[in-house]
Amino acid sequence: MKGVILAGGLGTRLRPLTLVTNKHLLPVYDRPMIYYPIQCLLNAGIRDILVVTGGEHAGDFLKLLKNGKQLGIRHLEYAYQEGEGGIAEALKLAEEFADRDKLCVILGDNIIEKDIKKAAGDFFTQPSGAKVILKEVDDPQRFGVARMDGHDPPRIVEIIEKPADPPGNLAVTGIYFYDAGVFRICETLKPSGRGELEITDVNNAYLARGDLTSEILDGWWTDAGTFESLFRASTLVARGGANSGFGFEAASDGAPLFAGERP
Ligand code: DAU
Repeated sequence: MKGVILAGGLGTRLRPLTLVTNKHLLPVYDRPMIYYPIQCLLNAGIRDILVVTGGEHAGDFLKLLKNGKQLGIRHLEYAYQEGEGGIAEALKLAEEFADRDKLCVILGDNIIEKDIKKAAGDFFTQPSGAKVILKEVDDPQRFGVARMDGHDPPRIVEIIEKPADPPGNLAVTGIYFYDAGVFRICETLKPSGRGELEITDVNNAYLARGDLTSEILDGWWTDAGTFESLFRASTLVARGGANSGFGFEAASDGAPLFAGERP
């Protein structure tokens, strides 16, 4: 399985900070935001990674990540998204990199406390389809939200993007697993009301085929795309670490990456 980090978009909600660099390079506590999704993939044993980015500051990624070896990445590729046509549009750029392998796709502003080892292992043995990771939240209106049925265990009936009247509090996190069929689905998408190709439409397409599984994430999860959530992310990381075992211990082939250890 390969990993894709989607770090495009213009980060307009974080201006003026994003006038001088890309949102995903802003600090979350003591390191750049993109280190967290990288560590999340590495913790799950995924070492071939594509970073999709865009905008004026795309070159900053190369300055920071270089070829990724110092972080423990086996193979690092970059793709450039013109404009910000949506998460599913950014994902389309991963087709050649994927080369028909299964993918773990993670949004560059998503940070988790623990790891996705179990979900990745389960998806590895899932014959086809997709898997989403869900998490209970207090503010479901901000996210894609899963409507669940009454089965035991409950199954997803529908995913609604940023519902005004959420059918529950289970948000679809920005960590997704897809088989190679995802790129054919992306081709069928039409822009949403906000002018974007929506990842929620991709997930609903798998659902319509009866080929979408889900798991509930253990530990905290946050995005970091607004001032409020960026602050929250830094606070959570400072209090309790992130991606348990954080520290790129897998990559001890060079100078220390960080000034200090986690508290
Ligand atoms: O964080 C989880 C949520 O992310 C999901 O619950 C939603 O279903 C999903 O639509 C998404 O919602 P947001 O509105 O918060 O996504 P946002 O536009 O902030 O983009 C999140 C990341 O996706 C961003 O940090 C980089 C990447 N992205 C986004 C766009 C619009 C791209 O790579 N290219 C893009 O064009």
